[in-house]
Amino acid sequence: MIPDAVVDEVRARADIVEVVSESVPLKKSGKDWKGKCPFHDDHSPSFYVVPEKGFYKCFGCGESGDVFTFLMKRSGMEFLDAVRYLGGRYGIEIREVTGGREEDDPFRALYEANAFARVWFHERLLDPDAGKPARSYLERRGIGLEVAERFGLGFAPDSWRGLREAAAKHGIGDDLLLEVGLLTTSERSAEPYDRFRNRVIFPIESVTGRVVGFGGRIVSGEGEGVPKYLNSPESPIYHKGDTLYGLGWNRNAIRREGVALLVEGYMDVVALAAAGIEHAVAALGTAVTEEHARLLTRYTRKALLLFDSDEAGERATFRAADALLAHGIHPSVVTLPPGEDPDTLVRAQGAAGLKRFLDAAVDVMDRKIQLLDEKGYFGSIEKVRAAVDKLLPTLRAVRDPALRDIYLASVARRTGVRTETLEEEVARGSRPTSPSGVPAPMGATSRGLRPSPRGRASGGELRRAGFGAERKLLLVLLRDRTLVERTLERIGPEEFRDPSYRAIFEALSQNPELEALPPGVSPEAERRFDELMGSPEDVEHTEQIFLDSLRVLEDQGPQARQAAMKTEIAEAGSEDEERRLLEESARLRRERSGGWNVIRRGGPVGIGGDDQLVNE
Ligand code: UTP
Ligand code: MN
Repeated sequence: MIPDAVVDEVRARADIVEVVSESVPLKKSGKDWKGKCPFHDDHSPSFYVVPEKGFYKCFGCGESGDVFTFLMKRSGMEFLDAVRYLGGRYGIEIREVTGGREEDDPFRALYEANAFARVWFHERLLDPDAGKPARSYLERRGIGLEVAERFGLGFAPDSWRGLREAAAKHGIGDDLLLEVGLLTTSERSAEPYDRFRNRVIFPIESVTGRVVGFGGRIVSGEGEGVPKYLNSPESPIYHKGDTLYGLGWNRNAIRREGVALLVEGYMDVVALAAAGIEHAVAALGTAVTEEHARLLTRYTRKALLLFDSDEAGERATFRAADALLAHGIHPSVVTLPPGEDPDTLVRAQGAAGLKRFLDAAVDVMDRKIQLLDEKGYFGSIEKVRAAVDKLLPTLRAVRDPALRDIYLASVARRTGVRTETLEEEVARGSRPTSPSGVPAPMGATSRGLRPSPRGRASGGELRRAGFGAERKLLLVLLRDRTLVERTLERIGPEEFRDPSYRAIFEALSQNPELEALPPGVSPEAERRFDELMGSPEDVEHTEQIFLDSLRVLEDQGPQARQAAMKTEIAEAGSEDEERRLLEESARLRRERSGGWNVIRRGGPVGIGGDDQLVNE
């Protein structure tokens, strides 16, 4: 809360003419100023600013207010933001009354450690000598100092203890730095060292402007076995699932534009801002979650998704769309040319070029139907049946009642299935909504599999299981084929480690209805398939098991490799080999905790031994 007296002082000291004329050309008219009204389609100047009284008024449309109202209406700021912004600009110290909360904040020291690091990284970027490689790197990518300044970008020099030593001098100890992930340790050295080295640093801010974590992009030596981006690990103050990069800076633009652009990376957010497009945010190294969606609802009800156009990108797009729909945000899909991302596109074609693609955005349901059409799904009755299954998750997700009706109607029109039937299907597979989180019973579908009351699987067991999770997931999928599509939105066949299970999943993804495997699969896969189909196990809590096993699969690629490495290390034949293995294992661990969740992108990880963790 900002005391009224302070608000009054800001209002008095702010120069309303200066603020208004930044977006509305004004001409002097006696003691006042006038111009064309920005709030309606004004042909004669009917908009007056009266500096003496500190207000503006339009005699055409009647809009009027003070300098705060102007910023709120014109640039979508919230009242408190407008006060803070003008306070900063006109030099009034804003002391917010926090009721002592500040003092009690148990994470204060963590925020302070991050704040220190941000300044330190930033100073390194500005350092005439040390910062040179990073500055010229940014310049090559079209990021000038002004934009770097706005996003607080920094540089972590190629050193193992630069930050650690600087922080120590300021009384910030290893413990804190380890807790926020600025330092890390490895199997080889218990001695903590700087996590970010030789990287351009992107501070990640919460909506209130506190630094919760960092991202770092390698400046040179890309592709030499180090991940391109490193992110801070989860910490008490950083939760990837509910942090959107850029939201703090761009939220006013999002309000003003009435839509958020959802992009994949730091660079996309920053490059778009450099091109004057300021309503983008990115979910970092993780899929767009319902938490992200909830956060966005505070600013907008519309989103444009600008993800990769490859298959993994498509999967991420539709999964994000469902999360958004579940919170009443209407997603549309922007399709960029293959291999382009918002950053490369805006640099090649400018803001106007990108805008053309934004204007061509297609509603997510229409896009799904379009893609199915392209893949020949409306050619035969059998395929139309499969198409319906693929569209159901989105019908289930959508919350907005009007949009729901529109979607039902368009799916009905395209597939020829009556809306009533669709509604029944939707209800049948609906996700549990009970607040207790207890999944609603899902009931086996009429596919000839009658579970018997013997042998029960629980979600908890799955977390410990290895291939167990793959088997359980298939078991659930074979009994409720409507889940196949939901699964495909999160993982691909490549996430299965067991070749036979992978083959079964692959076949299911081609045809969720199948009762037999297609010819050509291995005898072992046949055997497993028969075992699964005939299994008398009763799967209770289908939804829970479904979600748990999915999670295991999403995580098992790198995890498996790491487990295997433990044995390899123990059995290493020479010291050299041992060192090599220890290094790789440390790298893996860093990546699992802080780096990119490779699995998300559906890369080739998990097929046999993967030494291909780094995506580029
Ligand atoms: P991309 O590989 O698409 O990179 O990853 P990008 O954003 O286009 O990066 P530039 O243009 O080469 O600099 C998209 C996002 O995935 C995460 C990052 O958040 C990145 O911005 N990522 C990617 C990682 O966390 N680690 C990686 O190794 C790669
Ligand atoms: Mn890029």
